[in-house]
Amino acid sequence: MGKVTVPSVRARKVRSGADPIVMVTAYDAPGARIADEAGVDIILVGDSVAMVVLGHDSTLEVSVDEMVHHTAAVARSGARSLIVADMPWLSYHLSVEDTVRNAAALVRAGAGAVKLEGGAKRVPMVSAIVDAEIPVMGHLGLTPQSVHAMGGFKVQGREQGAADVLVEHALALQEAGCFSLVLEGIPSEVGRIVTSAVDIPTIGIGAGPDCDGQVLVFHDVLGIEDRITPRFVRRYANLKSDAVAALEAWANDVRTGGFPAAQESYHLPPGIETDHYPEDPGATIGLYGAAAPTEESRTA
Ligand code: KIV
Repeated sequence: MGKVTVPSVRARKVRSGADPIVMVTAYDAPGARIADEAGVDIILVGDSVAMVVLGHDSTLEVSVDEMVHHTAAVARSGARSLIVADMPWLSYHLSVEDTVRNAAALVRAGAGAVKLEGGAKRVPMVSAIVDAEIPVMGHLGLTPQSVHAMGGFKVQGREQGAADVLVEHALALQEAGCFSLVLEGIPSEVGRIVTSAVDIPTIGIGAGPDCDGQVLVFHDVLGIEDRITPRFVRRYANLKSDAVAALEAWANDVRTGGFPAAQESYHLPPGIETDHYPEDPGATIGLYGAAAPTEESRTA
């Protein structure tokens, strides 16, 4: 299978017979390799990195430099999936020049496209980025960078007429050159209406089953993040609890002397004399030259 390209994604409308697009976030090389081997179409280096990896309470904290750092790590995986990098908050709000320079930094780090949040008011920035030959994915509905303006992470588009407004924004982004749109946190009915109004594919997260694709956050699908489970998340593994159990088992082996075993240790070749060293069965020399803890030092 060849590299997933922007034009191939642009053509993926389910109503034209295409398979739904699968997009998942990843923030580092191992995550990207997992996503790529699973055969996803798009890896999103989301600004959700701020919350699920860097420990912040919102996505507003992450900078362009940090997004570049994570995008480069994902790109070094050599993934065949299309890599889309999120433009962080304030990286596309100040001036057109600043916006294009920031988008270019993400492309130089290895992204094949960038994503930014917001509707019609983003059109000048989207056009400028597209003019610089950088493909843009739009993002409408619950846009996490607007958390304060929205009064929290709240489902959007529930009121009368909201579908029409979202359709207008979606058409404006399509006209400006976006090759696809993320629809987040909106009623399924609104997701269906927007999806049928545009020619570019929509990728939903909490936007119902009628979008042209779905996206989830890596740490949510795999159960690495287990503190909050939004309604739209389906968990396919419990890696956090598996990892805790694995580390507990290893810690127990270390504490009871069961790790490392002889086959997990290096040994001197036959014929090397060590008899003139004093016997000290409690202190072995570790791989990095550190003395392993003795029972006394552990309990002291
Ligand atoms: O940053 C992110 O993970 C996203 C997805 C929720 C679409 O923007």
